[in-house]
Amino acid sequence: MRIMNKPGYYGQWGGAFIPEILYETFRELNAAFAKCRADKAFWQEYVELMSTYSCRPTPLTHAENLSRHFGGAQIFIKREDLNHTGAHKANNVMGQGLLVKRMGKTRVIAETGAGQHGVATATMAAKFGFACTIYMGEEDVQRQRPNVFWMEKLGATVVPVTSGSRTLKDAINEAFRDWVANMDDTHYVMGTVCGPHPFPAMVAWFQSIIGIEARKQIMQYFGKLPAQVYACVGGGSNAMGIFQGFLDDREVELIGVEAGGKGIESKQHAARLASQDASPGVAQGYKTMFLQDSDGQMCDTHSVAAGLDYIGVSPILSDLWEQGRVRFESATDAEVMAALDLTIKQEGIIPALESAHAFVHAFKEAGQLRKDQAIIINQSGRGDKDIFTIAHAFDDPSWKAFIREKGKQYAAD
Ligand SMILES: Cc1ncc(COP(=O)(O)O)c(C=O)c1O
Repeated sequence: MRIMNKPGYYGQWGGAFIPEILYETFRELNAAFAKCRADKAFWQEYVELMSTYSCRPTPLTHAENLSRHFGGAQIFIKREDLNHTGAHKANNVMGQGLLVKRMGKTRVIAETGAGQHGVATATMAAKFGFACTIYMGEEDVQRQRPNVFWMEKLGATVVPVTSGSRTLKDAINEAFRDWVANMDDTHYVMGTVCGPHPFPAMVAWFQSIIGIEARKQIMQYFGKLPAQVYACVGGGSNAMGIFQGFLDDREVELIGVEAGGKGIESKQHAARLASQDASPGVAQGYKTMFLQDSDGQMCDTHSVAAGLDYIGVSPILSDLWEQGRVRFESATDAEVMAALDLTIKQEGIIPALESAHAFVHAFKEAGQLRKDQAIIINQSGRGDKDIFTIAHAFDDPSWKAFIREKGKQYAAD
Protein backbone atom coordinates (compact mmCIF):
# COMPACT_ATOMS: atom_id res chain seq x y z
CA MET A 1 0.00 0.00 0.00
CA ARG A 2 1.15 3.54 -0.73
CA ILE A 3 2.49 5.38 2.31
CA MET A 4 -0.15 7.83 3.43
CA ASN A 5 0.88 11.43 2.75
CA LYS A 6 -1.57 12.58 5.43
CA PRO A 7 -3.04 10.26 8.07
CA GLY A 8 -5.92 8.37 6.55
CA TYR A 9 -5.09 9.23 2.92
CA TYR A 10 -4.08 6.84 0.14
CA GLY A 11 -2.81 9.11 -2.58
CA GLN A 12 -5.65 11.61 -3.02
CA TRP A 13 -8.29 9.21 -1.60
CA GLY A 14 -9.67 8.55 1.87
CA GLY A 15 -9.65 11.04 4.76
CA ALA A 16 -12.13 11.43 7.58
CA PHE A 17 -15.00 13.78 6.74
CA ILE A 18 -16.98 13.53 9.96
CA PRO A 19 -19.34 15.77 11.92
CA GLU A 20 -17.66 17.70 14.71
CA ILE A 21 -19.73 15.84 17.26
CA LEU A 22 -17.89 12.60 16.35
CA TYR A 23 -14.34 14.04 16.66
CA GLU A 24 -13.81 12.75 20.19
CA THR A 25 -15.17 9.29 19.30
CA PHE A 26 -12.80 9.08 16.34
CA ARG A 27 -9.87 10.31 18.42
CA GLU A 28 -10.57 7.52 20.90
CA LEU A 29 -10.99 4.95 18.09
CA ASN A 30 -7.74 6.00 16.38
CA ALA A 31 -5.86 5.72 19.67
CA ALA A 32 -7.33 2.28 20.50
CA PHE A 33 -6.58 0.97 17.00
CA ALA A 34 -2.99 2.30 17.03
CA LYS A 35 -2.43 0.64 20.41
CA CYS A 36 -3.80 -2.73 19.24
CA ARG A 37 -1.83 -2.62 15.99
CA ALA A 38 1.40 -2.02 17.88
CA ASP A 39 0.66 -4.85 20.32
CA LYS A 40 1.83 -8.26 19.04
CA ALA A 41 -0.27 -9.96 21.74
CA PHE A 42 -3.44 -8.43 20.25
CA TRP A 43 -2.78 -10.01 16.83
CA GLN A 44 -1.97 -13.33 18.52
CA GLU A 45 -5.23 -13.17 20.46
CA TYR A 46 -7.05 -12.42 17.19
CA VAL A 47 -5.45 -15.37 15.32
CA GLU A 48 -6.19 -17.66 18.28
CA LEU A 49 -9.83 -16.55 18.32
CA MET A 50 -10.18 -17.06 14.57
CA SER A 51 -8.64 -20.51 14.71
CA THR A 52 -10.81 -21.72 17.58
CA TYR A 53 -14.08 -19.96 16.62
CA SER A 54 -13.89 -19.53 12.85
CA CYS A 55 -12.04 -22.31 11.04
CA ARG A 56 -8.81 -20.43 10.30
CA PRO A 57 -6.62 -20.97 8.45
CA THR A 58 -9.22 -21.50 5.73
CA PRO A 59 -8.10 -24.03 3.10
CA LEU A 60 -6.74 -23.28 -0.35
CA THR A 61 -8.52 -25.77 -2.60
CA HIS A 62 -7.03 -26.95 -5.90
CA ALA A 63 -10.01 -26.90 -8.28
CA GLU A 64 -8.72 -29.76 -10.43
CA ASN A 65 -11.89 -30.26 -12.47
CA LEU A 66 -12.23 -26.59 -13.37
CA SER A 67 -8.50 -26.42 -14.19
CA ARG A 68 -8.93 -29.37 -16.56
CA HIS A 69 -12.13 -27.87 -18.00
CA PHE A 70 -10.40 -24.63 -19.04
CA GLY A 71 -7.14 -26.37 -19.98
CA GLY A 72 -4.88 -23.57 -18.77
CA ALA A 73 -3.73 -22.34 -15.36
CA GLN A 74 -4.16 -24.40 -12.20
CA ILE A 75 -7.12 -22.84 -10.42
CA PHE A 76 -6.93 -22.51 -6.64
CA ILE A 77 -9.82 -21.28 -4.49
CA LYS A 78 -9.24 -19.55 -1.15
CA ARG A 79 -12.11 -20.81 0.97
CA GLU A 80 -13.37 -17.82 2.98
CA ASP A 81 -16.81 -19.45 2.71
CA LEU A 82 -15.65 -21.86 5.40
CA ASN A 83 -15.42 -19.12 8.00
CA HIS A 84 -17.94 -19.23 10.84
CA THR A 85 -21.13 -17.52 9.52
CA GLY A 86 -20.10 -18.28 5.94
CA ALA A 87 -18.03 -15.37 4.72
CA HIS A 88 -14.85 -13.32 5.15
CA LYS A 89 -16.93 -10.76 7.10
CA ALA A 90 -16.20 -12.78 10.27
CA ASN A 91 -12.51 -11.79 10.12
CA ASN A 92 -13.21 -8.09 10.41
CA VAL A 93 -16.06 -8.40 12.86
CA MET A 94 -14.30 -10.61 15.38
CA GLY A 95 -11.27 -8.31 15.22
CA GLN A 96 -13.41 -5.24 15.89
CA GLY A 97 -15.14 -7.17 18.68
CA LEU A 98 -11.79 -7.59 20.47
CA LEU A 99 -11.16 -3.87 19.96
CA VAL A 100 -14.58 -2.96 21.42
CA LYS A 101 -13.81 -5.10 24.47
CA ARG A 102 -10.57 -3.16 24.97
CA MET A 103 -12.41 0.17 24.58
CA GLY A 104 -14.96 -0.89 27.21
CA LYS A 105 -18.04 -0.18 25.05
CA THR A 106 -21.18 -2.27 25.47
CA ARG A 107 -23.21 -1.81 22.28
CA VAL A 108 -22.41 -2.37 18.60
CA ILE A 109 -24.22 -1.19 15.48
CA ALA A 110 -23.62 -2.10 11.86
CA GLU A 111 -24.93 -1.67 8.35
CA THR A 112 -25.38 -4.66 6.10
CA GLY A 113 -26.13 -5.30 2.41
CA ALA A 114 -26.09 -9.04 1.75
CA GLY A 115 -26.71 -9.63 5.43
CA GLN A 116 -23.43 -11.52 5.91
CA HIS A 117 -21.86 -8.62 7.79
CA GLY A 118 -25.03 -8.25 9.86
CA VAL A 119 -25.07 -11.94 10.79
CA ALA A 120 -21.35 -11.84 11.61
CA THR A 121 -21.82 -8.74 13.79
CA ALA A 122 -24.84 -10.22 15.60
CA THR A 123 -22.80 -13.40 16.17
CA MET A 124 -19.88 -11.45 17.58
CA ALA A 125 -22.26 -9.45 19.82
CA ALA A 126 -23.81 -12.68 21.13
CA LYS A 127 -20.38 -14.14 21.89
CA PHE A 128 -19.02 -11.01 23.59
CA GLY A 129 -22.28 -10.00 25.29
CA PHE A 130 -22.86 -6.68 23.48
CA ALA A 131 -26.24 -5.16 22.62
CA CYS A 132 -26.60 -5.02 18.83
CA THR A 133 -28.58 -3.06 16.22
CA ILE A 134 -28.28 -3.75 12.49
CA TYR A 135 -29.38 -1.31 9.76
CA MET A 136 -30.39 -2.85 6.46
CA GLY A 137 -32.03 -1.36 3.36
CA GLU A 138 -35.60 -2.54 2.99
CA GLU A 139 -34.85 -3.96 -0.47
CA ASP A 140 -31.98 -6.02 0.99
CA VAL A 141 -34.26 -7.20 3.83
CA GLN A 142 -36.50 -8.69 1.12
CA ARG A 143 -33.59 -10.21 -0.82
CA GLN A 144 -31.84 -11.67 2.21
CA ARG A 145 -34.70 -12.77 4.48
CA PRO A 146 -32.86 -15.86 5.89
CA ASN A 147 -30.03 -13.65 7.15
CA VAL A 148 -32.56 -11.27 8.80
CA PHE A 149 -34.12 -14.25 10.55
CA TRP A 150 -30.74 -15.33 11.95
CA MET A 151 -29.74 -11.83 13.05
CA GLU A 152 -32.94 -11.56 15.05
CA LYS A 153 -32.50 -15.04 16.51
CA LEU A 154 -28.97 -14.04 17.56
CA GLY A 155 -30.52 -11.25 19.62
CA ALA A 156 -29.97 -8.26 17.30
CA THR A 157 -32.55 -5.63 16.46
CA VAL A 158 -32.79 -5.32 12.66
CA VAL A 159 -33.96 -1.91 11.43
CA PRO A 160 -35.20 -1.88 7.79
CA VAL A 161 -34.18 1.42 6.16
CA THR A 162 -36.85 2.87 3.89
CA SER A 163 -35.07 6.01 2.65
CA GLY A 164 -33.36 6.45 -0.74
CA SER A 165 -32.87 3.34 -2.85
CA ARG A 166 -33.37 1.23 0.33
CA THR A 167 -29.99 -0.49 -0.09
CA LEU A 168 -26.54 -0.40 1.50
CA LYS A 169 -25.73 3.31 1.15
CA ASP A 170 -28.98 4.23 2.94
CA ALA A 171 -28.24 1.71 5.71
CA ILE A 172 -24.80 3.33 6.22
CA ASN A 173 -26.38 6.80 6.54
CA GLU A 174 -28.81 5.49 9.15
CA ALA A 175 -26.06 3.73 11.13
CA PHE A 176 -24.07 6.99 11.26
CA ARG A 177 -27.16 8.80 12.62
CA ASP A 178 -27.45 6.21 15.40
CA TRP A 179 -23.74 6.52 16.21
CA VAL A 180 -23.92 10.32 16.56
CA ALA A 181 -26.75 9.89 19.07
CA ASN A 182 -25.16 7.04 21.08
CA MET A 183 -21.41 7.35 20.77
CA ASP A 184 -20.68 7.05 24.51
CA ASP A 185 -21.46 3.35 24.75
CA THR A 186 -21.65 2.36 21.06
CA HIS A 187 -19.10 1.27 18.47
CA TYR A 188 -19.95 1.31 14.77
CA VAL A 189 -18.66 -1.95 13.24
CA MET A 190 -17.99 -0.81 9.68
CA GLY A 191 -18.27 -3.85 7.41
CA THR A 192 -15.82 -2.96 4.69
CA VAL A 193 -12.69 -0.97 3.82
CA CYS A 194 -14.67 2.24 3.30
CA GLY A 195 -15.85 5.12 5.46
CA PRO A 196 -13.77 7.64 7.36
CA HIS A 197 -10.25 6.87 8.61
CA PRO A 198 -9.36 4.70 10.52
CA PHE A 199 -11.97 2.24 9.17
CA PRO A 200 -10.30 1.45 5.81
CA ALA A 201 -6.96 0.83 7.54
CA MET A 202 -8.54 -1.14 10.38
CA VAL A 203 -10.72 -3.41 8.24
CA ALA A 204 -7.83 -3.99 5.80
CA TRP A 205 -5.62 -4.98 8.74
CA PHE A 206 -8.05 -7.59 10.05
CA GLN A 207 -8.71 -8.94 6.53
CA SER A 208 -4.98 -9.18 5.74
CA ILE A 209 -5.12 -12.59 7.44
CA ILE A 210 -6.56 -13.94 4.13
CA GLY A 211 -3.56 -12.84 2.05
CA ILE A 212 -1.00 -13.88 4.67
CA GLU A 213 -2.43 -17.40 4.65
CA ALA A 214 -2.99 -17.58 0.87
CA ARG A 215 0.61 -16.61 0.05
CA LYS A 216 1.98 -19.21 2.45
CA GLN A 217 -0.41 -21.89 1.14
CA ILE A 218 0.28 -21.37 -2.59
CA MET A 219 4.04 -21.50 -1.95
CA GLN A 220 3.53 -24.70 0.01
CA TYR A 221 1.23 -26.45 -2.50
CA PHE A 222 2.42 -25.02 -5.81
CA GLY A 223 5.98 -23.95 -5.03
CA LYS A 224 5.69 -20.55 -6.66
CA LEU A 225 3.57 -17.42 -6.71
CA PRO A 226 0.32 -17.31 -8.70
CA ALA A 227 0.19 -15.40 -11.98
CA GLN A 228 -3.11 -13.80 -11.03
CA VAL A 229 -5.33 -13.28 -7.97
CA TYR A 230 -9.05 -12.54 -8.42
CA ALA A 231 -11.51 -11.11 -5.90
CA CYS A 232 -14.96 -9.54 -6.14
CA VAL A 233 -15.25 -5.92 -5.04
CA GLY A 234 -18.17 -4.43 -3.14
CA GLY A 235 -16.62 -2.03 -0.67
CA GLY A 236 -13.41 -3.98 -1.18
CA SER A 237 -12.65 -5.84 2.07
CA ASN A 238 -12.21 -9.40 0.77
CA ALA A 239 -10.20 -8.06 -2.17
CA MET A 240 -7.93 -5.99 0.08
CA GLY A 241 -7.65 -8.99 2.37
CA ILE A 242 -6.20 -11.31 -0.27
CA PHE A 243 -4.38 -8.62 -2.32
CA GLN A 244 -2.29 -7.57 0.68
CA GLY A 245 -0.54 -10.96 0.57
CA PHE A 246 0.77 -10.18 -2.94
CA LEU A 247 0.96 -6.37 -3.23
CA ASP A 248 4.75 -6.31 -3.18
CA ASP A 249 5.05 -9.16 -5.70
CA ARG A 250 4.85 -7.08 -8.87
CA GLU A 251 4.74 -10.22 -11.05
CA VAL A 252 1.38 -11.20 -9.50
CA GLU A 253 -1.48 -9.49 -11.31
CA LEU A 254 -4.35 -8.46 -9.02
CA ILE A 255 -7.85 -8.31 -10.50
CA GLY A 256 -10.88 -6.83 -8.77
CA VAL A 257 -14.28 -7.72 -10.23
CA GLU A 258 -17.21 -5.36 -9.71
CA ALA A 259 -20.93 -5.80 -10.32
CA GLY A 260 -21.77 -5.29 -14.00
CA GLY A 261 -25.47 -5.85 -13.18
CA LYS A 262 -27.56 -5.72 -16.34
CA GLY A 263 -24.55 -4.52 -18.36
CA ILE A 264 -22.49 -1.34 -18.18
CA GLU A 265 -24.43 0.28 -21.06
CA SER A 266 -27.72 -0.24 -19.18
CA LYS A 267 -26.41 2.00 -16.35
CA GLN A 268 -27.93 -0.57 -14.00
CA HIS A 269 -24.72 -1.74 -12.38
CA ALA A 270 -22.36 -1.00 -9.49
CA ALA A 271 -19.05 -0.83 -11.39
CA ARG A 272 -17.15 2.13 -10.02
CA LEU A 273 -13.61 1.49 -11.21
CA ALA A 274 -14.43 -0.85 -14.10
CA SER A 275 -16.71 1.64 -15.87
CA GLN A 276 -16.45 5.27 -16.96
CA ASP A 277 -19.51 6.14 -14.88
CA ALA A 278 -17.93 7.06 -11.51
CA SER A 279 -16.23 10.30 -10.53
CA PRO A 280 -14.30 11.57 -7.49
CA GLY A 281 -16.47 12.69 -4.61
CA VAL A 282 -16.82 12.93 -0.86
CA ALA A 283 -19.68 11.08 0.83
CA GLN A 284 -20.24 8.88 3.87
CA GLY A 285 -17.13 10.32 5.50
CA TYR A 286 -14.49 9.64 2.83
CA LYS A 287 -13.22 10.56 -0.62
CA THR A 288 -13.32 7.99 -3.39
CA MET A 289 -14.77 7.25 -6.83
CA PHE A 290 -18.56 7.35 -6.50
CA LEU A 291 -21.40 6.55 -8.87
CA GLN A 292 -23.03 9.97 -8.70
CA ASP A 293 -24.69 12.45 -11.01
CA SER A 294 -23.25 15.83 -12.01
CA ASP A 295 -24.85 17.43 -8.90
CA GLY A 296 -23.12 14.92 -6.62
CA GLN A 297 -26.37 13.03 -5.94
CA MET A 298 -25.70 9.32 -5.51
CA CYS A 299 -27.05 7.10 -8.32
CA ASP A 300 -29.16 4.01 -7.81
CA THR A 301 -27.04 0.93 -8.36
CA HIS A 302 -28.03 -2.59 -9.34
CA SER A 303 -26.56 -6.02 -8.83
CA VAL A 304 -27.99 -9.48 -8.35
CA ALA A 305 -25.53 -9.66 -5.44
CA ALA A 306 -26.69 -7.43 -2.58
CA GLY A 307 -23.15 -7.25 -1.15
CA LEU A 308 -21.76 -5.58 -4.30
CA ASP A 309 -24.65 -3.16 -4.75
CA TYR A 310 -22.88 -0.02 -3.48
CA ILE A 311 -22.06 3.45 -4.87
CA GLY A 312 -18.53 3.82 -3.45
CA VAL A 313 -15.38 1.76 -3.22
CA SER A 314 -12.45 1.56 -0.85
CA PRO A 315 -10.14 4.59 -1.02
CA ILE A 316 -7.25 2.11 -0.87
CA LEU A 317 -8.53 0.43 -4.03
CA SER A 318 -9.08 3.78 -5.77
CA ASP A 319 -5.41 4.46 -5.11
CA LEU A 320 -4.27 1.03 -6.34
CA TRP A 321 -6.44 1.55 -9.44
CA GLU A 322 -4.90 4.96 -10.06
CA GLN A 323 -1.42 3.48 -9.67
CA GLY A 324 -2.33 0.68 -12.10
CA ARG A 325 -1.52 -1.97 -9.48
CA VAL A 326 -5.01 -3.53 -9.57
CA ARG A 327 -6.95 -4.16 -12.79
CA PHE A 328 -10.72 -3.75 -12.50
CA GLU A 329 -13.30 -5.70 -14.49
CA SER A 330 -17.04 -6.18 -14.20
CA ALA A 331 -19.27 -9.25 -14.49
CA THR A 332 -22.94 -9.16 -15.42
CA ASP A 333 -25.71 -10.88 -13.45
CA ALA A 334 -26.13 -13.40 -16.30
CA GLU A 335 -22.40 -14.23 -16.40
CA VAL A 336 -22.46 -14.71 -12.63
CA MET A 337 -25.26 -17.27 -12.84
CA ALA A 338 -23.38 -19.24 -15.50
CA ALA A 339 -20.12 -19.25 -13.48
CA LEU A 340 -22.03 -20.30 -10.38
CA ASP A 341 -23.69 -23.20 -12.20
CA LEU A 342 -20.36 -24.42 -13.58
CA THR A 343 -18.57 -24.20 -10.22
CA ILE A 344 -21.32 -26.09 -8.41
CA LYS A 345 -21.38 -28.87 -11.02
CA GLN A 346 -17.62 -29.18 -11.53
CA GLU A 347 -16.34 -28.78 -7.98
CA GLY A 348 -19.28 -29.30 -5.61
CA ILE A 349 -18.64 -25.83 -4.19
CA ILE A 350 -21.38 -23.19 -3.93
CA PRO A 351 -19.97 -19.66 -4.02
CA ALA A 352 -21.95 -16.65 -2.84
CA LEU A 353 -23.35 -14.50 -5.68
CA GLU A 354 -20.80 -11.85 -4.73
CA SER A 355 -17.85 -14.27 -4.95
CA ALA A 356 -19.10 -15.68 -8.27
CA HIS A 357 -18.18 -12.34 -9.89
CA ALA A 358 -14.51 -13.16 -9.31
CA PHE A 359 -15.02 -16.63 -10.81
CA VAL A 360 -16.43 -15.10 -14.03
CA HIS A 361 -13.19 -13.32 -14.86
CA ALA A 362 -10.93 -16.08 -13.66
CA PHE A 363 -12.81 -18.42 -16.03
CA LYS A 364 -12.48 -15.97 -18.94
CA GLU A 365 -8.72 -15.80 -18.50
CA ALA A 366 -7.58 -19.18 -17.09
CA GLY A 367 -7.44 -20.80 -20.54
CA GLN A 368 -4.96 -18.16 -21.77
CA LEU A 369 -2.37 -19.22 -19.18
CA ARG A 370 -0.02 -22.23 -19.12
CA LYS A 371 -0.65 -25.37 -17.07
CA ASP A 372 2.43 -24.65 -14.96
CA GLN A 373 0.92 -21.32 -13.86
CA ALA A 374 -1.57 -20.85 -11.02
CA ILE A 375 -4.37 -18.43 -10.30
CA ILE A 376 -6.18 -17.89 -7.01
CA ILE A 377 -9.84 -16.95 -6.73
CA ASN A 378 -10.95 -15.58 -3.39
CA GLN A 379 -14.26 -17.25 -2.57
CA SER A 380 -15.46 -14.59 -0.15
CA GLY A 381 -18.57 -16.47 0.97
CA ARG A 382 -20.90 -19.41 0.54
CA GLY A 383 -24.04 -19.34 -1.57
CA ASP A 384 -26.54 -20.83 0.88
CA LYS A 385 -27.83 -17.35 1.77
CA ASP A 386 -28.67 -16.79 -1.93
CA ILE A 387 -30.92 -19.80 -2.36
CA PHE A 388 -34.03 -17.71 -3.09
CA THR A 389 -32.30 -15.50 -5.67
CA ILE A 390 -30.46 -18.39 -7.34
CA ALA A 391 -33.50 -20.68 -7.48
CA HIS A 392 -35.53 -17.79 -8.94
CA ALA A 393 -32.85 -17.01 -11.55
CA PHE A 394 -32.63 -20.68 -12.62
CA ASP A 395 -36.44 -20.70 -12.72
CA ASP A 396 -36.42 -24.00 -10.82
CA PRO A 397 -39.95 -25.50 -11.04
CA SER A 398 -39.74 -27.81 -8.01
CA TRP A 399 -38.44 -24.95 -5.84
CA LYS A 400 -41.34 -22.76 -7.03
CA ALA A 401 -43.83 -25.51 -6.12
CA PHE A 402 -42.19 -25.85 -2.69
CA ILE A 403 -42.45 -22.08 -2.02
CA ARG A 404 -46.08 -22.02 -3.19
CA GLU A 405 -46.88 -24.91 -0.84
CA LYS A 406 -45.13 -23.19 2.10
CA GLY A 407 -47.04 -19.97 1.28
CA LYS A 408 -50.34 -21.87 1.44
CA GLN A 409 -49.34 -23.45 4.77
CA TYR A 410 -48.49 -20.05 6.30
CA ALA A 411 -51.70 -18.49 4.93
CA ALA A 412 -53.70 -21.28 6.62
CA ASP A 413 -51.92 -20.82 10.02
C1 LIG B 1 -20.00 -13.04 0.54
C2 LIG B 1 -19.66 -11.62 0.28
N1 LIG B 1 -18.65 -11.34 -0.57
C3 LIG B 1 -18.29 -10.07 -0.85
C4 LIG B 1 -18.98 -9.00 -0.30
C5 LIG B 1 -18.57 -7.62 -0.68
O1 LIG B 1 -17.91 -6.93 0.33
P1 LIG B 1 -16.38 -6.59 0.26
O2 LIG B 1 -16.12 -5.98 -1.07
O3 LIG B 1 -16.17 -5.66 1.39
O4 LIG B 1 -15.60 -7.85 0.42
C6 LIG B 1 -20.03 -9.24 0.61
C7 LIG B 1 -20.76 -8.13 1.23
O5 LIG B 1 -21.73 -8.26 1.91
C8 LIG B 1 -20.37 -10.59 0.90
O6 LIG B 1 -21.36 -10.90 1.75
